[in-house]
Amino acid sequence: MTSTTERAFSHKKLERNVTLLGLCALGAVAIGGIVEIAPLFWIDSTVEKVEGMRPYTPLELTGRNIYMREGCYVCHSQMIRPFRDEVERYGPYSLAAESMYDHPFQWGSKRTGPDLARVGGRYSDEWHRAHLKNPRSVVPESIMPPYAFLAERPVKVGDMSGHLTALSRVGVPYTKEAIAAADADLVAQADPNGDPALLKTRYPKAQARDFDGNPNQVTELDAVIAYLQMLGTLVDHQKAKAFEQPR
Ligand code: HEC
Repeated sequence: MTSTTERAFSHKKLERNVTLLGLCALGAVAIGGIVEIAPLFWIDSTVEKVEGMRPYTPLELTGRNIYMREGCYVCHSQMIRPFRDEVERYGPYSLAAESMYDHPFQWGSKRTGPDLARVGGRYSDEWHRAHLKNPRSVVPESIMPPYAFLAERPVKVGDMSGHLTALSRVGVPYTKEAIAAADADLVAQADPNGDPALLKTRYPKAQARDFDGNPNQVTELDAVIAYLQMLGTLVDHQKAKAFEQPR
């Protein structure tokens, strides 16, 4: 017998013995699984720390929840990949640390519209207001649906402490004071007559203003614009060593 037929013969044995085949298949799958899963056991060293990251403010978090409720992620990604075309269009590529407080993350898998990971500060609040109420008013060829009703709906205040507590249980570092003050912080960030001083000590770089142009109430439009305006603004990319030149 030549060596080829010998090998064919032993493989035949493997294929005809269900137990042996099952065990070998399990072994092969286990190796692949370990290679994928093992790095996550050392997640702390996998996610490189970068300066500037902080948990979302209660208002930003509310905006983020509305973003998920309305399915914005169906058309928008929030992850800039490390390729030149992406970096030139959207800005420095996304770091793992930039979504470390995201539960669930919003990386997305489809771009009907542009990536939003660094949309913060790119447009004025007025632009976002007009765009969300009727996208065609500022981008005539837009196929994005209108979300005018956001301006009519007041945000739900009263259950933010529970929300922050839940997030702190999965590792988001909200302090006791931040949790206790969550509902007050929510209103303070969008109320033009409020005092955002404490909010800003708790959440560095938090932007506090009347986002929706309606000083009488805090609406869902306030929350969504507050969220959009902070996306990608926390990490100073000039200083963060983690960024290399894109290949
Ligand atoms: C059906 C797909 C679709 C959905 C759903 C959608 N968008 Fe869009 N979005 C687009 C498209 C297409 C554009 C590009 C044209 C434009 O600017 O309107 C866009 C543009 C944008 C921009 C401007 C980005 C830039 O860099 O110019 C923002 C901000 C935005 N969308 C936010 C949202 C938010 C917030 C939601 C959910 C409330 C949402 N979108 C839901 C398709 C969508």
